[in-house]
Formats: sequence, C-alpha cells, structure tokens
Amino acid sequence: MKRLTVAVILTCLATGAFAQDAVKDRQQAMKGIAASAKTLGDMATDKAPFDAALAEQARVTMQENAARIPALFEPNVIEGETEALPAIWENWDDFAAKGAALEKAAADATTGSLSDVQTAMAQIGPTCRACHTDYRE
Ligand code: HEC
Repeated sequence: MKRLTVAVILTCLATGAFAQDAVKDRQQAMKGIAASAKTLGDMATDKAPFDAALAEQARVTMQENAARIPALFEPNVIEGETEALPAIWENWDDFAAKGAALEKAAADATTGSLSDVQTAMAQIGPTCRACHTDYRE
C-alpha cells in the first residue's frame, strides 16, 4: 500500500513537471514569435531603422517557431499560468490551420526593403489575431 502511494505520488509529480514544461515551452515559442513581430513591426512603422539582416533573422525565427506550434500544443495541458483555452483541443484542426497560416505568412514574406517588411507585417498581423481571438484568454 505504501509502495503504491509512493508510486502514485511520483507519477503525479512527473506529470506535473511535464505539464509545466509543456506550457513553458509553448509560451517560450510565442515569446520568440512576438519578439520577431516587434522587430518587424517597429521597422514597418519607422520606430526602428530598416535593417535587412535583422528583418530576415526575425522572419526566419517567426517561421521556425510557427512550424513548432502543432507539436508544442499537442499535449492537452491547461494548468498553471496559461492563457490557452480548452477550445484549442476541441477544434484542433482549426487551431493547427491557424498556426500553419502564420508559418506560411512568415515563409512567404520577403524582407529586402522597408516596403517588403510593411507588406509582411500586413500579412502576418492578422494571423496572430485570428488565433488569439478564439484560443487565447
Ligand atoms: C495558432 C494559434 C496562434 C497564433 C497563430 C499565434 N498565437 Fe500567440 N498565443 C497563442 C496561444 C494559445 C497562447 C497562450 C499560450 C499559453 O499561455 O499557454 C499565445 C500566447 C502568446 C503570447 C504570450 C506568451 C507568454 O509569455 O505567455 C504572446 C506575446 C503571443 N502569443 C504573441 C503572438 C504573436 C505576435 C503572433 C503572431 C505573429 C502570435 N502570437 C500568433 C496562440 C497563437
């Protein structure tokens, strides 16, 4: 009996740690996406000087992090400090499609000129909102 209790406790601890990591990892990816969006957005609105190398780096970071969205959100975890809504796992295909839309917008974007970055942000921005409206608190 005692052994069983210990086993149950250990399992709970392991699951809890896994859950927290899952939440942290996906939030970390979102932070990378957000930092990239800020870099591009500041350039697009003249808050920062245009820098082609920096813009391209931000675009690539955004694309790579967006590509990880399905894998990062696959564990159905909504405990601890999270803004993720249960609707994600109830509408998984739609959620994944919205992640793919961001990935595609970042993949299709070009960053060679200021007007490229402005066009890119006009394509990327709505994909953030489209997902957050339904799936983020
Ligand atoms: C496919 C859906 C989806 C897309 C697309 C998406 N997000 Fe998110 N985002 C979420 C969800 C869900 C959360 C909440 C995650 C959590 O708290 O567990 C989140 C959280 C965040 C956070 C808070 C991260 C933290 O520190 O907790 C930021 C900032 C953010 N998103 C910015 C963006 C920006 C900027 C874009 C577009 C460039 C974007 N997101 C695109 C679903 C998405």
